[in-house]
Amino acid sequence: MIKQENIVYVKPTLLDIDEMQKLVKPEVDEGIILPRNDDEMATNIRAYVVAKFNNKIIGFCALHIFSKKLAEIRSLVVDKSYRRNKVGQNMILFLIEESQKLCVNSVFALTYQKGFFEKLGFSMINKSELPEQKIWADCIKCKYFPVCKEIAFIKQI
Ligand SMILES: CC(C)(COP(=O)(O)OP(=O)(O)OC[C@H]1O[C@@H](n2cnc3c(N)ncnc32)[C@H](O)[C@@H]1OP(=O)(O)O)[C@@H](O)C(=O)NCCC(=O)NCCS
Repeated sequence: MIKQENIVYVKPTLLDIDEMQKLVKPEVDEGIILPRNDDEMATNIRAYVVAKFNNKIIGFCALHIFSKKLAEIRSLVVDKSYRRNKVGQNMILFLIEESQKLCVNSVFALTYQKGFFEKLGFSMINKSELPEQKIWADCIKCKYFPVCKEIAFIKQI
């Protein structure tokens, strides 16, 4: 178990993108997380939170706003060697706090991580309830589209 006080949760800068890409590569290769190129990450840099341990990025996650009410938790990843240390949970809490400040009503996630999202108080919903922009902008980029086994979760905040 790593000491929580040695982990910081901060907004990344453009200089963090190379390290973020390296961290997420295994999950992108496995098709668990959608690829985002450097420019996409740069454009959306303000959406992310990164977890740093001794100045090394050990996880990151993004909050993508879809509408005046709804946002998505996406690109959630924690370095394999640091999992089960509450890093994923703390990044979600960071982004939920950010959503609350922005007056977002609810956040959703599309995921294979049922147990994790249930622990964080998310409820399962039917994928057909997701916004259409998600399907057209993102899902068509996925190598598993249209046979998607991900589960949709939502949380009112
Ligand atoms: C999902 C992921 C981010 C979880 O990160 P993590 O830092 O290991 O999770 P945490 O330690 O914060 O877990 C928080 C709680 O969820 C539980 N949990 C974590 N992963 C779980 C899993 N796969 N199944 C069931 N419970 C899980 C933890 O035990 C903990 O519960 P506790 O409070 O009772 O101890 C990490 O496993 C990961 O990067 N996976 C690969 C990428 C991925 O699937 N991303 C999701 C895309 S939306």
